[in-house]
Amino acid sequence: MRALVAAAVAVGWIVPSSAAPPAGAAACSGCHAASTRVATPVARLAGRDPADIVKAMREFREGARPATVMDRIAKGFTDEEVQAIAAWYAGKR
Ligand code: HEC
Repeated sequence: MRALVAAAVAVGWIVPSSAAPPAGAAACSGCHAASTRVATPVARLAGRDPADIVKAMREFREGARPATVMDRIAKGFTDEEVQAIAAWYAGKR
């Protein structure tokens, strides 16, 4: 089911802004707000290009990008899960 949703987002069947949060998104939104109107101390993900988020998560997972917490968090998510979360954030304003 999760893979189906990710595939549907990838081919554009689902408009990310109207879709329910994908599995795992709640594990990010406590630190990265799901709205561009909320100021947080951590980098904003809402409204960002999904490819940037997917790339950063891959680099965190591989240890190629400096991190305090994201290296550990990134290890808990597959590329497919990150893609669904990134698409959801991209639709947030
Ligand atoms: C405990 C708070 C916390 C949680 C939860 C969290 N992040 Fe982060 N995130 C950070 C911090 C802090 C950074 C800065 C890098 C570091 O210190 O690890 C960051 C950086 C990032 C970046 C890089 C942004 C940039 O422009 O440099 C991305 C992408 C990201 N997080 C995605 C996610 C995703 C996706 C999730 C959920 C799976 C998530 N984060 C969950 C705190 C968090």
